[in-house]
Amino acid sequence: MTPERLAAERAEWSAERSQAAREASEKASATRPTQLDETARAEMREIIARYPQPRSALLPMLHLVQAYEGYVTPAGIEMCAEELGLTEAEVSAVATFYTMYKRRPMGEYHVGVCTNTLCAIMGGDAIWSELTGELGIGHDETTDDGTVSLEHVECNAACDFAPVVMVNWEFMDDQTPQSARELVDRLRAGEQVQSTRGAAICTWREASRVLAGFPDGRATQGRQAGAASLAGLVLAQERGWQAPEGGTPALEAAPGEGAQ
Ligand code: FES
Repeated sequence: MTPERLAAERAEWSAERSQAAREASEKASATRPTQLDETARAEMREIIARYPQPRSALLPMLHLVQAYEGYVTPAGIEMCAEELGLTEAEVSAVATFYTMYKRRPMGEYHVGVCTNTLCAIMGGDAIWSELTGELGIGHDETTDDGTVSLEHVECNAACDFAPVVMVNWEFMDDQTPQSARELVDRLRAGEQVQSTRGAAICTWREASRVLAGFPDGRATQGRQAGAASLAGLVLAQERGWQAPEGGTPALEAAPGEGAQ
């Protein structure tokens, strides 16, 4: 069998497996009792009270649903719609537009591997191959023990630390296939893991609660900017460069150009 044919058969098998896993997961989720109680409803109202227009609260409310349910469930969509006076179709339209909202259970630790251009060429593709092989799951799939899910993520605006991996939206900078594999092994073993920037990694539900606007006091843990991000500032300080007074100076007109 040629390598091309082998790759095509593997891709076909993987797609079938993903589809079957997705259908099984969605079927199991549909019959799971909701964990959204009256406390959740009261917290939704607390979020709504923060905005001049109630519907502006929908995004944090969906994160709150994920904090209680683990993902955006039909019951969560129904509760958001009731509280905001929207239709369930309107709430679903928002929940299905943004990739941070999940429609089936994610792992306790959701691992995003950046495979956008810079991270990909710096090793992101190799990390993705390593983790899919190690865990036996693909994009937006969860390990059978429910501890880890995987996602291909787009640029995280952390290209100066490429290749980067995220765990529940905390950065793991300058990763390698080996360090990423050790990371998921530690997460699956229940060890407390820290972001390379210092913050303690919390669970998916805990992170969702913070995104809903209920801080856990960990926002200032660790450093706020690393050496690679500050390199330009250090250079400017060494050379005595200053930002121009009064903002950006107007560009000088080239010969032949000018006010018409
Ligand atoms: S390409 Fe990965 S963080 Fe920008």
